[in-house]
Parts: sequence; structure tokens; C-alpha cells
Amino acid sequence: MLFCIHTFGCQMNENDSRLMAGLLISAGHRQVDNLEEADIAIINTCCVRESAENRALGYIGSLKKWKQENPHRIVVVCGCMIQKDGNSELLRKSYRHVGIIIGTFAAALLPRYIESYAATGERIIDVEERYDLPELCRGEELPVTVENGYRAQININYGCNNFCTYCIVPYVRGRERSRKPQEILAEIEQLAAIGVKEIQLLGQNVNSYGKDLADGSNFASLLTSVNDIAGIARIRYMTSHPRDFSRDLVETIAGLDKVCHHFHLPLQSGCNRILQQMNRAYRTEEYSEHLRNIRAFLPDATITTDIIVGFPGETEQDFVETLHYMQEARFDAAYTFLYSRRSGTPAAQMAEQVDESVKRQRLQRLMDVQNEISRSINERLVGSCMPVMLDGASKNNPHMLSGRTDGNKIVVFPAPTTAWQAGQIFPVQITEAQTWNLKGKILE
Ligand code: 5AD
Ligand code: SF4
Repeated sequence: MLFCIHTFGCQMNENDSRLMAGLLISAGHRQVDNLEEADIAIINTCCVRESAENRALGYIGSLKKWKQENPHRIVVVCGCMIQKDGNSELLRKSYRHVGIIIGTFAAALLPRYIESYAATGERIIDVEERYDLPELCRGEELPVTVENGYRAQININYGCNNFCTYCIVPYVRGRERSRKPQEILAEIEQLAAIGVKEIQLLGQNVNSYGKDLADGSNFASLLTSVNDIAGIARIRYMTSHPRDFSRDLVETIAGLDKVCHHFHLPLQSGCNRILQQMNRAYRTEEYSEHLRNIRAFLPDATITTDIIVGFPGETEQDFVETLHYMQEARFDAAYTFLYSRRSGTPAAQMAEQVDESVKRQRLQRLMDVQNEISRSINERLVGSCMPVMLDGASKNNPHMLSGRTDGNKIVVFPAPTTAWQAGQIFPVQITEAQTWNLKGKILE
């Protein structure tokens, strides 16, 4: 059958979708981009913020007509949203056109469930939190699971034990569990053999990798082993928690030639009182120590962060502390979010929820400060030359190419006259800086 996947949410979900596609292709199905051609629509959902959940629900609703046009069609809804309280019930009762409802724990069973549904037409709902099922994995169709032909994501640990009070992830992705290093390394070797150049190690908190393993592995030892794999040119990872971040890790990274000098270290708030309410388990002073260590060992490192504004009880004074912290810290970029109330999390119960209009206004002030900093950091790069790994033709202008620096900054530059391919590394001189992008030219 022909299937089409629509993905909401983070890199982890994008990767899960690629892995599901690989499994379905191994089972004899074929992937198409256009829903109208498809027999199976798969919606991989996100629930980290209310807006993502609403978008997914809207999209699922719109598939009612698609299903009515041809009753043999199959609608599958999977991913984080399903695992959140009440949602599977809602879909079961009010979205009758959805035939298969599976949570994050049963995703690897998708091919089997499709086969059974196609044969019997009986609805399948599997949303239980359980740890005895296989995790999503790469099937025989390895290339399908590679992004852009040269970059592959690979899960190193699943779930999260941190229970930040605003966050739904621990409830929908379950407890933290690490994959064995041998399994991860074997998979990366296979990927390198089919031409993968860049590896992105994925986990909700990569820094706590190995804590549940008996063999003494940790994130630093894993990075060291991945660094030895021939054919891999760049190693990235996502995402880190400041609580488990250490000077030793920075020192290890500084000694490994393939690990990119990009640190994404979510701060969430620059106010200690709010950090405590968020259950982040660090203070700004400790976070600043991490920044000092990164900059001491790797002065060229790109440092990015996540910030939530309008957490319950955040006063103007608390917010101004965050603004001041951002001015001091000088991040290359910050992903900024309006606090979104997620039922089932402790913060959703807290009194003093902040007004939407106040949140919006704070977000704008924060972005104004950060954009200025991002631009000024990027402007200092003008004139310098750096290796850029090519992603492909620029989306806005086919005569231009787009790639990424070691620090994960996007650089747009004119195509060379000779043949090129994604994953190739060019020496590029930076000629112009913008807030989010750089422009450059290839040095011959
Ligand atoms: N509201 C707003 N932002 C959130 N994040 C996680 N949960 C919420 C929420 N309830 C943000 C955090 C995290 C990023 C992936 O999403 O900043 O680092
Ligand atoms: Fe959510 Fe905190 Fe876990 Fe990140 S570390 S996934 S923010 S609970």
C-alpha cells in the first residue's frame, strides 16, 4: 500500500517518522508525498505545547473527508499526543475515522497493526505505557532513515526522568533508558558504510546517557567511541541538560576532532526563583560556570539555548532578571517559547498563571534583545573562512547553496561551477551577516 506521513514536533519525532517509514517499506509498502495518492495517512503528533496539539487535532479532523472518499483508506495517529491524558479517549469517541491509535511505546508495531487493520477493519488502540516492546529501530531499508542522503539521527537514550514542572515529555515518553553502546556504534558503522557523513545523537537528556547501564558508559565515552568511526565527519547531539553537564565533558569534546563546537544548553529562565519552581535543579551561577568552561576550552563554540517566558508566578522583576542574564550570557541564538499550560504537569496546577498578553509582550522584549545579540555575534564572523557542510540548493534561490558551519549556523553561498553533492564540505568565506543566517562565497 502507499503511505504518507505528516509529522508535528521535534527532531525526535522527525526521526521516529523516518524509522517508521523504513519499517513500512521493509514490509512492502511504498512512501508517497501526496496524500491524495496514499492509502494510509500517518499523523505523528506532538503535545509539548498546546499549539502543536491543536494543529495536530485540526489536521486529523480534516482527514475525515479523505477517509469518506474511499473507505479502504487507513488513518493512523501516533506519537506523543496520544500518550497524553484523555487524548486517546477523545480520538476514540469523536474521531471515528481514525482506525489505528498508537502511543510512543508501540510505534515499532505499526507494520503489524496496519496488516491486521487492513484484513479485519477492526479499530486498534494501543496506548499503554510499557517497556517490554521493541523500540523503533532501523529496518532493512537503511537509506530511507537517512535525512538528505548524508545526515542521520540516532537515538541514544529514550524518555526523561527530570520532571521539569512545565513539561509533558516524561509523561508521554516514559522513563529514561539508554541503548547499549555496542548497538549504537554498530548502527553508526552501518550508516557510515552507506555514505552518512554527519551523525546526530538524540535523547531528551543526552548528558545522562549511560546512568542506567551497568558497563560504566557515559556520554563522554560514547562520543569518544563515535569519534573513531571512519567516514563520519561531524558529530552533533541534542539535547542537553545543564544539571548533568560538566567541565569533563567540555574537555573531552575539545579533544575530539569530529564533535561539533555547538552547545545547545537550555537555560529556560535566568531567574533562580523560577528555575527552582521549574525543578531545573541548577542555579544561574552554575549555568554561568558551564558557559565559562565552554568558552575557555573552545573559544569558537556556538552556544544556543531555550527560554520559556510567562511560567506561572513569573513577575516583571523575574523576567527582567532573565533579560539581564541574556545580555550577559550572549548566546548565539535562543529558541523562545510562551509558557503553555499542559494538563497533568505540576505547573498547570500552580496559582498565578500569567496573562497571555503579558506573556506575548515579554516574548517580544526577549526576542528584541536576543536578535540584536545574534546579529552582532554573526557580524564579527564577516571576513572569516570556515568549513561548511552542504545541505543542498537554497530553498529561496536555486542558484544558491545552503549549508552549515561546525557551529550549526546556516550559510548561503553561490553554487560552484563544478558538480557538487550534499554532505560535501567547502571552505567558505563569510561576506554578510544576518540575525539567523550568514552569506558567503567558496574560497577556490
Ligand atoms: N511551555 C512552553 N515551552 C515548553 N517547553 C517544554 N515544555 C513547555 C511548555 N509547557 C520548551 C522548553 C524545552 C523546549 C523543547 O520546549 O524550552 O527546552
Ligand atoms: Fe522536559 Fe525537562 Fe525532560 Fe527536557 S529535561 S524533556 S524539559 S522534563
